[in-house]
Amino acid sequence: MCSIIGYKGNEHASSILIEGLKKMEYRGYDSVGIATIKSGKLLTRKGVGKVAEVNKSLGLDELPGNLGIGHTRWATHGGIVDSNAHPHLACDSTIAVVHNGIVENYDELKDELTRSGHVFKSETDSEVIAHLLEEYFEITQDIRLSMIFTCKRLTGSFAFVAIFNSSTMCGARYDEPLIVGVGNDDYFLSSDILGFLNYTDRAIFLDNRDIVIIDDSDISFFDFNGDRISRRITQVAWELGDADKGKYAHHTLKEIHEQQNTIVKSMKQNKKTLERFCDIMTRAKNIYITGSGTSYHSALLAKQIFSKSKIHVETIMSSEFQYSSDLLDENSILLAISQSGETADVIQSVKSAKAMGAKILSIVNIPTSSLARLSDSYLEVNCGPEIGVAATKSFTSQLALLYYVTDIIGRKSNGISTSKDMLVRAISEVLELDSKIERIANQIKGSRDVYILGRSLHFPVCLEGALKIKELSYIHAEGMAAGELKHGPLALIDNGSIVIVIHPNDSTYVDTLSNIHTIKSRGAKIVGISNKKNSIYDYQITIPTISEFLYPLIEIIPLQLLAYYLAIGNNANPDYPRNLAKSVTVK
Ligand code: M6R
Repeated sequence: MCSIIGYKGNEHASSILIEGLKKMEYRGYDSVGIATIKSGKLLTRKGVGKVAEVNKSLGLDELPGNLGIGHTRWATHGGIVDSNAHPHLACDSTIAVVHNGIVENYDELKDELTRSGHVFKSETDSEVIAHLLEEYFEITQDIRLSMIFTCKRLTGSFAFVAIFNSSTMCGARYDEPLIVGVGNDDYFLSSDILGFLNYTDRAIFLDNRDIVIIDDSDISFFDFNGDRISRRITQVAWELGDADKGKYAHHTLKEIHEQQNTIVKSMKQNKKTLERFCDIMTRAKNIYITGSGTSYHSALLAKQIFSKSKIHVETIMSSEFQYSSDLLDENSILLAISQSGETADVIQSVKSAKAMGAKILSIVNIPTSSLARLSDSYLEVNCGPEIGVAATKSFTSQLALLYYVTDIIGRKSNGISTSKDMLVRAISEVLELDSKIERIANQIKGSRDVYILGRSLHFPVCLEGALKIKELSYIHAEGMAAGELKHGPLALIDNGSIVIVIHPNDSTYVDTLSNIHTIKSRGAKIVGISNKKNSIYDYQITIPTISEFLYPLIEIIPLQLLAYYLAIGNNANPDYPRNLAKSVTVK
């Protein structure tokens, strides 16, 4: 949702904070701010816009001091205006706070604090944290106690970092990530290791209900009861910081083009971990799969992939899980799929499934995520950092891994495991269509609506393609099962419609072709994604022929590219779609 960063050391804090925020901007990007402490005085600058813009206009990285905090916001409570940007200050400007999450009881706390004389300057829920800290510090004159009392008063989810003008930096987390970076003579507190990986690869992943206090002499950890705890340092891989765009104009384009490598990486699994994961799956009486957005589309495909190996699973969209979760019991497993491993809807589903006795399996990209920690066993998709808000390479990596797991469980000798080289060749052929797809995008970029049709395994790909087009280009797009057209949506089709059809020459070919005839006769323009030439298409994107079962892995790529170029054609920034954030940690 938002990104938070803190730095305490000997270096110029504000430039380190700005650098870290730029790396984490994928988490939220409507406003930015920093606060530093210099000679006991708290200095702050903040404004609406992206990090580079606001830094240019306000000189955020010019603030002096070796201690500071920074934040990029994804608005939840209060409009996108300067006063709602973080950091938020206590009344006497001795404490500044940056927060990620939602303080659910902020109304009640705000009333109480206002009655005690605190003056609020923003409409955010986050500001209550600064005033609570101030209130408790006035009473106790003790930073540790102020942190403990404050955390105990907050409900909802939070990770926050506070600086006190006495040169102390503190952080606390509950259901939002917060990681300590341990340098040689300095410390970082960050939502993501990307925030500090340029400086140190030593990290401490805080647990829920952890408080960390860093002053001039020490770093110490406490739980919300005030008991001292110890936390271990983990060495993280430097390559996780490889978040540059390289030769590409955008992260999204780079990530789309990485897919020929990333799908192979996702099948490189530790043998023991994979066996344990598959073993838990095989023993389960009922298997449910959950996820949100793109990861839910992976779940829909997983259902079909598993069913080909006679493994029956049910899918439940994570945001709907709470309404159907009484299906689960101790004989069930819930397989949660999530790139970030932090999506609130997914985490909530997992927690309720656990409470019902179900075992939790997960497929994640971030092994240190909350989801991985909540799981009995998890597999990593290993696709590297995905910075573009739209899920691209993580989707195909999830799919490749799901195919791979099915091969192992179903003891298949002719599944994805034996087709890796062929797949890599097929994906690179599809990626070579980049400029052709750009030309098609330029032809259709003015459309108001786009429909994507396909049957069987291709149907979830239609949903995913439509999601990509919506979020990147802001064109209304709908994915549909081709056979459903005649049951209603056909009424929408006229000579202004653009219909993309996923139409490889497989068992769905003939039936989908008759749907195309129906649409064509109503004047719609057809974009065919197929390995078989057909003059019925107005534009054809020719994909290579591969095993029928594996088509989803390659046919999504033209749709990702199309969405990317539609965004460019419509002057939208594909890396940072409006109103969205990479990691959705609110319900
Ligand atoms: O990190 P997750 O996989 O749990 O994220 C789930 C969705 O928020 C995510 O897939 C979202 O739909 C993407 N922006 C789609 O491109």
